[in-house]
Amino acid sequence: IVPTDRFTLLPSNQPTADNIRDNILQNPGFGSHFTDHMAHVRWTLDTGWHAHEVRPYGPLTLDPAASVLHYGQEIFEGIKAYRHADGSVWTFRPEKNAERFRRSARRLALPELSDEDFIGSLKALLAQDHAWVPTPASDSDECSLYLRPFMIASEAFLGVRPAHEVDYYVIASPAAAYFKGGIDPVSIWLSTHYNRAAPGGTGFAKCGGNYAASLAAQKEASANGCSQVAFLDAAEGKWIEELGGMNLFFVFKDGRVVTPRLTDTILEGVTRNSVLTLAKDEGLTPKERAISIDEWREGAASGEITEVFACGTAAVITPVGELVTDNERITLTAGGNNEIAKRIRTKLLDLQYGRSEDKYGWLT
Ligand code: COI
Repeated sequence: IVPTDRFTLLPSNQPTADNIRDNILQNPGFGSHFTDHMAHVRWTLDTGWHAHEVRPYGPLTLDPAASVLHYGQEIFEGIKAYRHADGSVWTFRPEKNAERFRRSARRLALPELSDEDFIGSLKALLAQDHAWVPTPASDSDECSLYLRPFMIASEAFLGVRPAHEVDYYVIASPAAAYFKGGIDPVSIWLSTHYNRAAPGGTGFAKCGGNYAASLAAQKEASANGCSQVAFLDAAEGKWIEELGGMNLFFVFKDGRVVTPRLTDTILEGVTRNSVLTLAKDEGLTPKERAISIDEWREGAASGEITEVFACGTAAVITPVGELVTDNERITLTAGGNNEIAKRIRTKLLDLQYGRSEDKYGWLT
């Protein structure tokens, strides 16, 4: 994909001072600091996509009747830029995000952005704000510049129909590990009365509404000392789906590495897809199939399942220590060292940070 080069630059006249930026990059946290610029492309029914620009980061002017504020017609993406040892800056499989963004757009009745414009917008923003990509302090450091492309229905109209005016933006935020404990195993809450997605719904699309719908369950998780929620399928309440913002993997003692097969209620993670390839490379047997909560419970007790881990762009690969419900705690009797999760994580990070050969051509 050849990124389009048609982004006009309107540089900020108040860029962050170098020492302030460097201070932020020492300890960025996740999602609360933003770079000096943002990319923007406008779409109207009459003209299509136009007015490509990189402009100073700042508040948007939206009409209070903008339909995104009322009906949630919105989609987004998450992708990171990594700094290599030679100072160069790379993104990881951006064409996968571009493709998923188009898929999400179709489901939310938003206009599709071309892959060239999607990747072009990342490139244009990075060309301007590359100084905001942190340098990892060690091989286990997962600092990066998190890029957040999003598309909103901005037409001022209260009728319920696909908007005739839409805006696409990319903002960027320096990021350290998503979970405060880094690679320490997290506790997961099993939501038994909330569902995230239903067949025919929007579960496979990356739209704000899916995340909004997960928040009541997330609140329940926090109240029970857990950092994420596992959702079961809505139809039978039996099959493991995902964590709302991350996919799940199960490692079996015979070397099978299983993740729920894709349905229209599961988001196809770029990290999920990469783990399937890397696991095979490690001599393991990746499998995509339905996996039930009973299989998790029984496999954890018998020692058949030796590890569970979550994966995502933000989360990278994080071991799951236990699954907590109203009346039980599912812990892995054979668990503890999370050796496979750590091995795959190291392989993934080495690729992303350019410490190993990019043999799949995943870096742009
Ligand atoms: C990502 O991993 O990029 C996401 O969008 C998930 C969210 C939990 C930050």
